[in-house]
Amino acid sequence: MERIIDLRSDTVTRPSREMREAMASAEVGDDVLGDDPTVKRLEARMARLLGKEAAVYVPSGTMSNVLALLSQTSPGDEVILDRNCHIFNYEVGGAAVLGGLQLFPMDGEGGLLPIDSLPAAVRPANIHHPRTALVAVENTHNRAGGRVYPFDQLEAVSRFAHERRLRVHMDGARLANASVKTAIAIDRYGALVDSVTFCFSKGLGCPIGSILVSDAATIDRARSWRKRLGGGMRQVGILAAACLYALDHNVARLAEDHDKAARIGAIIERSGKYRLTFPVETNIVIFAPVDPLAGMGALERSIRGVGILAHLISERSMRMVTHLDVQEADIERIEGVLPRILEA
Ligand SMILES: Cc1ncc(COP(=O)(O)O)c(C=O)c1O
Repeated sequence: MERIIDLRSDTVTRPSREMREAMASAEVGDDVLGDDPTVKRLEARMARLLGKEAAVYVPSGTMSNVLALLSQTSPGDEVILDRNCHIFNYEVGGAAVLGGLQLFPMDGEGGLLPIDSLPAAVRPANIHHPRTALVAVENTHNRAGGRVYPFDQLEAVSRFAHERRLRVHMDGARLANASVKTAIAIDRYGALVDSVTFCFSKGLGCPIGSILVSDAATIDRARSWRKRLGGGMRQVGILAAACLYALDHNVARLAEDHDKAARIGAIIERSGKYRLTFPVETNIVIFAPVDPLAGMGALERSIRGVGILAHLISERSMRMVTHLDVQEADIERIEGVLPRILEA
């Protein structure tokens, strides 16, 4: 059997030998007591990278996002976000359950907030209304096929929100992909928002870990929430060392993942039977059958039969994601077999 090419997500990567060596030799301490030097180094480096005061290392992007919301709002507040974003769809309603927050989903185009409709989404002060407290954006956008949030639109959202004293949170689980794609420095994105979730366990190839970056007061509150939720970790420098390794070695190479995704996208486009749901901008390819009655289940089984795994988003939508463990030879194999299967 040929090696499996796993395109279900960029979370499937396995830490490399070099990353494991960095982990094995990490200096550690009890991080709940503030004693882990490697975690401190990672948090300080990420705060600098985003141009912010502080950061807190957490187990997952989901925890980072919920900490961001809980630390910048009060129960009963409202959060404006795009209907297709990760926070609204894939975080098990954590903001509502844990923070008593009401989410106000908006129908934007391709994961972007509809700027013209934003004014009407902010609640005027009135005894009947929840208080609009925060606007959340996602960059790159997972369900919009890894789309990069256009910088000028982000500036417009940020200006709009800040003029109304609303906080802005960016789910930047894949912000490194956005920055590599646009060549816009990460701190320029950071300057537009009040808090950022950044993940190491996706394109950057770490086994675990995300970080929330913001001002010092917000991070103090987030640290307290992290402990309350059981996310205080002890000698966790062993994981933070993987993240530091990834920052040094795995950021610039994201461009290779983007090129590989574009090559898969080109195969889909050429097939005639399937079309891209979104243009491929970074490492995510989402596509659907042209035939309005066709499903994707048979395609998923056929490609699995030749050792290629993809994620069925729904019966009519499939996702393929490139990452550190998808090699040039894998893409050549895909270029060899996928056209035939798509046209079958
Ligand atoms: C955009 C985005 N935000 C947040 C997350 C959550 O990350 P985690 O799986 O580490 O909780 C994901 C996961 O894929 C994601 O794609």
